[in-house]
Amino acid sequence: MRMYDIIEKKRNGFELSDEEIKFFIDGFTSGDIPDYQASALMMAIYFRGMSERETVTLTLAMADSGDRVDLSEFGSLSVDKHSTGGVGDKTSLIVAPIVASLGAKVTKMSGRGLGHTGGTVDKLESIPGYKTTLSKEEFFNQIKNTGIAVIGQSGNLTPADKKLYALRDVTATVESIPLITSSIMSKKIAAGSHSIVLDVKVGSGAFMKDLQSAEILAREMVKIGKMCGRNIAAVLSDMDAPLGTNIGNSLEVVEAVKVLKNELHNDLYEVCVTLATQMVCLSLGYTPEKAKDSVINAIESGSAFNKMKQWIAAQGGDISYLEDVTKFPKAELCYNLTAEADAYIAGFDSEKIGLSAVCLGAGRATKEDSINHAAGIVLNKKPGDKVTKGETIASLYTDEPDCISSAAEMFISAVSYSENIPETKPLIYQVIR
Ligand code: URA
Repeated sequence: MRMYDIIEKKRNGFELSDEEIKFFIDGFTSGDIPDYQASALMMAIYFRGMSERETVTLTLAMADSGDRVDLSEFGSLSVDKHSTGGVGDKTSLIVAPIVASLGAKVTKMSGRGLGHTGGTVDKLESIPGYKTTLSKEEFFNQIKNTGIAVIGQSGNLTPADKKLYALRDVTATVESIPLITSSIMSKKIAAGSHSIVLDVKVGSGAFMKDLQSAEILAREMVKIGKMCGRNIAAVLSDMDAPLGTNIGNSLEVVEAVKVLKNELHNDLYEVCVTLATQMVCLSLGYTPEKAKDSVINAIESGSAFNKMKQWIAAQGGDISYLEDVTKFPKAELCYNLTAEADAYIAGFDSEKIGLSAVCLGAGRATKEDSINHAAGIVLNKKPGDKVTKGETIASLYTDEPDCISSAAEMFISAVSYSENIPETKPLIYQVIR
């Protein structure tokens, strides 16, 4: 078999055989197939697309390119959740303990923040002592004993995706539905959970900016997940505004604790109830009505918050910070941004707000940057809210006085005003199963 012939076949619009796809993934992972040939194939796939069979084969070949976690001992109880990424998205911190408190086994390998979006691992590391690396034995014992383990992406999981994604990023081939689907689903398949709930974000802060493309991607991922033998659902949720009020690592943990203590019934609460309901339906086989009631009851009864404390303690975290969130260190500087006029907030550009938080030190511009866990933004107003001139819209927190003006400028450019009540957008567009 020759890589040249595979590229030519796809370029001419023909379907690749399973053997050809596996030949490419094996050869690319081992280094036998050079980047320039892989890039050419990615561009051919970008233009010619892939059939469902080709996408499934590519997904499984990438999942098999490294280690796979074997969670079969937990049967259908194992459940994972994936967000396509957003601003203020701390849902994993909330849904994992809710679902585990009801008896499911939640396992997650989470990433760090990069660009304008945050990462679960950074948020968890703002809790003193929390270990994002566990040995295999610790990982499995924790799932058995507490029902949750959330660790960083470690080991040799989907090396083919790591290499391919880096290549796609610099060859303008990221925006291809079969390539995005196989990239995300290969990681989920390798991570081992039987049930998977995808939170596909739509809007200014999301990877998918419009509803139509988000829906196409979500449907494709659900179809491919099923063809790979998984129980899967996708929730299409809004990311035109940041989720909840807090953006930045320890600030987001504080907001997650408030939701789990039943102190906050905002947009974040609604999205978490929807995601947790789907996770419970898939992993425990409940009807949607029973699942939703159980999820709300887990929050109201305090069992979900107790589960969070049990999980964080099991991974070495100091739970006194969860019991008393005022213990989290505060940033040295707080700068209030105020409304320019009497008006309604018509909208936020979430990506710009995410970048403003990065400027303040809450995120990284490059992988090597360090972050300040206390830095970030607290929103006092959200789209649709009425403001009077001079009223605080948001507070910016940082330890670096030099960054305030650029962060403030970025935030101000993200806000649009309207004299009339703006149209509100749905928070949850659709659940696809
Ligand atoms: N996220 C991924 O993990 N892969 C893609 O291809 C796009 C977004």
